Amino acid sequence: MNNDTGQSNHDSRARLGRRRFLAATTGAAGVMILPARLVRGTAANSAVRVGLLGCGGRGTGDATHMLDTGLARITALADLFPDQLAKAKQRFNSLAQQKGYAGLNDQQLFLGPTAFQQIAHSNEVDAIIIATPPYFHPEHLEAVVAAGKHVYCEKPVAVDPDGAQRVIACGQKAAGRLSLDVGFQIRNAPPFVELVKRIHGGALGTIVCGEAYYYGTYLNRPAWPNASPNERRLRNWVWDRVLSGDIIVEQNIHAIDICNWVLQGHPLKASGVCGRKVRPDPGDASDHYNVVFTYPEGVHVTLNSTQFDRGWWDVNERFFGSKGVSESHYSGPCAIYGDEPWSWNTARSPQKPESKEFSATGSFSDNLAQADPEKKKAFLESILSGQFHNQAAQGAESALTAMLGRTAAYQGREVTWDEVANSHEKWESNLDLNHL
Ligand SMILES: NC(=O)c1ccc[n+]([C@@H]2O[C@H](COP(=O)([O-])OP(=O)(O)OC[C@H]3O[C@@H](n4cnc5c(N)ncnc54)[C@H](O)[C@@H]3O)[C@@H](O)[C@H]2O)c1
Repeated sequence: MNNDTGQSNHDSRARLGRRRFLAATTGAAGVMILPARLVRGTAANSAVRVGLLGCGGRGTGDATHMLDTGLARITALADLFPDQLAKAKQRFNSLAQQKGYAGLNDQQLFLGPTAFQQIAHSNEVDAIIIATPPYFHPEHLEAVVAAGKHVYCEKPVAVDPDGAQRVIACGQKAAGRLSLDVGFQIRNAPPFVELVKRIHGGALGTIVCGEAYYYGTYLNRPAWPNASPNERRLRNWVWDRVLSGDIIVEQNIHAIDICNWVLQGHPLKASGVCGRKVRPDPGDASDHYNVVFTYPEGVHVTLNSTQFDRGWWDVNERFFGSKGVSESHYSGPCAIYGDEPWSWNTARSPQKPESKEFSATGSFSDNLAQADPEKKKAFLESILSGQFHNQAAQGAESALTAMLGRTAAYQGREVTWDEVANSHEKWESNLDLNHL
């Protein structure tokens, strides 16, 4: 990544520090190769039986992508709310019928506050997708890993540092036994994979600074006027700081994860601001963030974000180096300019009909068109081959990076990585799921 030969001892220590962070958190190399027959017994070549926990927009999309690979069947569903469970049952029964598979067994539909434990213990699933609101991810991941199921956990893995530590511990328990993926599908998008490979190969020279921005549209949702206040919070968790982690942890984390990927590490400190001026919803999430992250070797990266834009959106990361500049839009150029110019030809990406719209489910055209199919295929193949993934530490690292920016913005001061990563700060939703 960096051709600068004048590294200081401090810089080397920073890199070593990150290697130690990942080594300590994965517990091993992160990947262990086992013969396929040891992985799923005699069923090694059959489809992976997938359960979906959290039957909303993203979970339904994740499960559909898994089904579309031909490597999986959806065999169980779990949700807090009956209408969400019923919708998903109808969808996956209809998809099963179209594909000539058996539909869902009613015994495998789990409802209510303990549904996550029931699906985790089901004998009819090998792997579980966790696509519940972020606040629940550590608890749900712990249950799934304890029950010995492979897991695809949506981002962010947690909303607070305590949750991130719990996820790291789950990764250590899963290491070598289970595949544990985190929903950063952009890391599997072919244009991004090629771009980052070139940057790591030195195409930008010495990286000096960068900018990432996540300018998004308002996330509109039904108001649920007749629901209780607690049910309304859950239904519209994206508007709620504690349930979502706020927009930097819930949504901007995709751009932050790419910065960590490109720079092969996490920032050492951050300062920033955030605010809420024009969001029309009754929640308390911010509508913008402006943060400066300092990565090792003094690489400053600004993160700017909004979540209220009308008629326009753009998500992009730019890195400025001694040999060139890169940019990587969700939709638009994915390119390197300068001494080693390169550009992904978007004509190579299949187009999807929603190409002009911002997609709340994460389904985008152009540079991200293949992100989800590739990510789901890689997850399922890791289970079938026994070459298990372990993305818990990486998922926690990006979540902690977003929390670092959030803490700096909330507290209006410079905050260090160590303060946040080592803190046991825990957020409370004050929700009793048995009395909504
Ligand atoms: N990777 C991506 O690009 C991407 C895109 C969108 C969303 N996401 C992530 O996916 C997750 C889900 O987002 P979404 O947009 O599908 O939300 P959603 O509100 O559409 O779905 C959440 C589902 O979880 C259910 N639920 C809530 N609390 C529950 C609990 N305690 N136990 C069981 N079920 C519960 C809800 O009833 C709902 O069906 C979030 O973590 C979000 O950040 C990722």
